[in-house]
Amino acid sequence: MSRIKNLEDYAVDYRKSVTDPEGFWAAQAERFVWRKHWDEVLEYDFEDYNVSWFKGGQLNITENCLDRHLLHRAEKTAIHWVANDPREEDRIFTYRELHEQVCKFANVLKSKGVRKGDRVCLYMPMIPELAIAVLACARVGAIHSVIFGGFSAQALADRVKDAGAKVLLTANFGPRGNKVIPLKSIADEALEKCPGVVETVIVYERTKDHTSWTAGRDVWWHEELEQVDANCKVEIMESEDPLFILYTSGSTGKPKGVLHTTGGYMVYTAYTFKNVFQYEENDVYWCTADIGWITGHSYIVYGPLLEGATSVMFEGIPTYPDAGRFWRIVDRLKVNIFYTAPTAIRALMAQGLEYVELYRLESLKVLGTVGEPINREAWEWYHLHIGKGRCPIVDTWWQTETGGIMISPIAGVLPTKPTYATLPLPGIQPVLVDQEGKEIKGKGVEGNLCIKFPWPSMIRTTWGDHERCKNTYFSTFKGYYFTGDGCRRDEDGYYRILGRVDDVINVSGHRLGTAEVENAINMYTGVIESAVVGYPHDIKGQGIYAYVVCDSSKLEVSTITELKAEIMATVVEKIGKIARPDKVQIVRGLPKTRSGKIMRRILRKIAEGQVENFGDISTLLDPSIVESIKEGAQKVE
Ligand code: PRX
Repeated sequence: MSRIKNLEDYAVDYRKSVTDPEGFWAAQAERFVWRKHWDEVLEYDFEDYNVSWFKGGQLNITENCLDRHLLHRAEKTAIHWVANDPREEDRIFTYRELHEQVCKFANVLKSKGVRKGDRVCLYMPMIPELAIAVLACARVGAIHSVIFGGFSAQALADRVKDAGAKVLLTANFGPRGNKVIPLKSIADEALEKCPGVVETVIVYERTKDHTSWTAGRDVWWHEELEQVDANCKVEIMESEDPLFILYTSGSTGKPKGVLHTTGGYMVYTAYTFKNVFQYEENDVYWCTADIGWITGHSYIVYGPLLEGATSVMFEGIPTYPDAGRFWRIVDRLKVNIFYTAPTAIRALMAQGLEYVELYRLESLKVLGTVGEPINREAWEWYHLHIGKGRCPIVDTWWQTETGGIMISPIAGVLPTKPTYATLPLPGIQPVLVDQEGKEIKGKGVEGNLCIKFPWPSMIRTTWGDHERCKNTYFSTFKGYYFTGDGCRRDEDGYYRILGRVDDVINVSGHRLGTAEVENAINMYTGVIESAVVGYPHDIKGQGIYAYVVCDSSKLEVSTITELKAEIMATVVEKIGKIARPDKVQIVRGLPKTRSGKIMRRILRKIAEGQVENFGDISTLLDPSIVESIKEGAQKVE
């Protein structure tokens, strides 16, 4: 398959992908190793929601990520790891070494009784062993579920339990910036909350500090590796066998386990990696995401390795030891393609140019962003100061559920426009629909962003609850996959993502359900009810604003400052730091309609600092509440 090289190629491929999707995707799939060819490229039904790609095909994705490269790329760097502490040495794995490590760890998993279809949860720092373990799971046919290292014990327990994981992989500690996360003790606490699920915990010794231990359950990673050899045949998987579960927040209820399967995910992540970034054989590619999120799955591990690329993996944060860290690494490793989040760009922008000017950044060819809308200022700064005006920026719109990039410029091929994700990739058919689900055609229009035709890496189900998958994505607008995003199609036909239209907020590119944060707040004794909304935040994109109604007895014994601190601490305990509200306002009541529904639109406006134009509030049970909330908001820091 050749790469899209110019606008004409794009037009031709896009047309083909719409007129003959099966032929188009079959051609992309042919270049991989299949143990058995597929019978049917695509079968689908958006009513009951079922989709299968490359049905009848058999493969193992790690054979395509690793074994396939051993002939021509064995000595090429697959993963180049950079530690949090700049004094610590890099760790480099060639394809040969990575293959060997994956085989060994796959044998460790097998020795612990892990078999095809079993779930393995990973709660790890950004170290090579995380990527190795992900691939080792895939090699033995186990379903991996990576849980971001910033989640709390409770959040970890919820996910481990929902997935029914037999084995948990963790590290004793996880260094990040000038902090060290005690992953193992958090994992211990989590497992106490869900007894009888996990049989074995395999612990990587990241630091030499004392590690709590449960004999009979816990084993050391390095000791286990000593017991196994480096030969491990791949487990033959059906194309539609599950590859991984990744938990993500929705507008209601607990986070759901998004399930991705093997064949389609493989084909799509490789295709998009190669085309969007215009990856060329010897490029050094760096995606700064964490493997705990979908971006890390698709564009640190699978996409790049499927293409035989050199993927940089970074343990630290952009501002440690100083705000020049990213750029120092770019120069040192001669990074050609750099992919990060708008939040990181805004945070670095705020630190001033002196950290950028120390570096040459000459190796850069392509820049990318992902996870949230990028504002014009950040786009311009990235373009001018990092890309020096010569690197195209790919503003990639996609989701955990979509598995891969959906709407995005193709670097250097599609003309870009700040704040626009531009055009759909081949195979993606976006539509905008109105509230009634009617397609809004034409240009210069806005609506709910839906996708009307299947693509290979789309969500297959939500783990253990197919109804929920159907209801969440396929029932709001009949016949379409609903993304949850609002979107504008401008006069050029370019797409601009306007943000979520549901109760999901996006804080520093991390997706959170307002209901999820409210549930956590409500667990604090003395809280009667709460309502959480997002508001514009200079660095994080959106901040979290919580309106909380407390029991009067609580108000008598605690100061407002104490209450706020305790409420915030409860959220950190139940979910993790990423969900800590930026602002908490104690209110005497919430603006509710007579039918008891909270009028969130008013709360959003107040959180944004607006004090007028609330629209019709006559349906409120007690309109005076609005005045008192408005007044109280002035005092919230
Ligand atoms: O609102 C969109 C926003 O992030 C949501 C998906 O979040 P998550 O599943 O965590 O995946 C993030 C990484 C792929 C979307 O519904 N989003 C993602 N990319 C963009 C974006 N919003 C605007 N522009 C983007 N490029």
